Amino acid sequence: MNIQYNFQGKTAVVTGGAQGIGFAIAKAYLTAGCNVSIWDFSQDALDQAKAELSSFGSKVQFEKVDVSNKESCSAAASKLPGNINYLVNNAGITRDKSFKKMEASEWDAVIATNLSGLFHVTKSLFEKFQDGPKRIINISSIVGLFGNFGQTNYAAAKSGVIGMTKTWAREFARSGMTVNAIAPGFIATKMTAGMPKEVLEKMEAKVPLAKLGLPEDIANACLFLSSEEASYISGTVMSVDGALTL
Ligand SMILES: NC(=O)c1ccc[n+]([C@@H]2O[C@H](COP(=O)([O-])OP(=O)(O)OC[C@H]3O[C@@H](n4cnc5c(N)ncnc54)[C@H](O)[C@@H]3O)[C@@H](O)[C@H]2O)c1
Repeated sequence: MNIQYNFQGKTAVVTGGAQGIGFAIAKAYLTAGCNVSIWDFSQDALDQAKAELSSFGSKVQFEKVDVSNKESCSAAASKLPGNINYLVNNAGITRDKSFKKMEASEWDAVIATNLSGLFHVTKSLFEKFQDGPKRIINISSIVGLFGNFGQTNYAAAKSGVIGMTKTWAREFARSGMTVNAIAPGFIATKMTAGMPKEVLEKMEAKVPLAKLGLPEDIANACLFLSSEEASYISGTVMSVDGALTL
């Protein structure tokens, strides 16, 4: 890596940080010397992440949290010692179906995690942003910008995340906080690893850079937005998608 970040003495909370993109983000902060609290509701993923990150010792904490549940967020927030600097609202789920087939329960589940989850988590942690730097990074999706067949619930939530990001960028600016969103394109995770080769090739063919992104590509954007050098960037949506949405 050519850019060396130094987040020694700083603290980050990464939701959905036990696997996939969130795990890469948590690991990148840890590698930059940051203390990290990983919030996730999957015990299996938490156990695996704990084993994989054991070399970081007490710099990394693990909390079993359901971001869609206000009380669960408040309980985890109360365990955090003092100041936090970086919050990455990354936890997300999909329940894809065409609008005609989508059940209200599938709508509710995605909105509860991918949209209301950001509200609950940020509410629970807001008072813990005391000494700078103060950064919130919300993980949206290109689907929130352009919509997608079969994703009424997900697209609505991810567009909502962008509206929330822009509003918070205005409201929280007076305390020196920046708030930005990242809109990932097709990212290779465990989910894509299980897809048939032909489907993956078709996805890659749609991307001008002719490959899927990696979780580390999103982590790199996250670290940049957290850095001192990004302190005048707020209210933006950074697409990290290999030019897919041009
Ligand atoms: N993978 C992609 O191609 C892609 C593209 C665009 C946006 N995104 C977004 O990036 C984020 C991460 O996606 P991913 O591909 O790494 O997904 P993933 O399923 O691999 O990881 C998501 C993590 O969030 C956790 N989680 C889910 N619901 C939760 C809840 N209610 N409370 C706490 N934790 C919860 C899961 O346990 C899991 O560890 C999501 O917000 C997703 O919408 C992903």
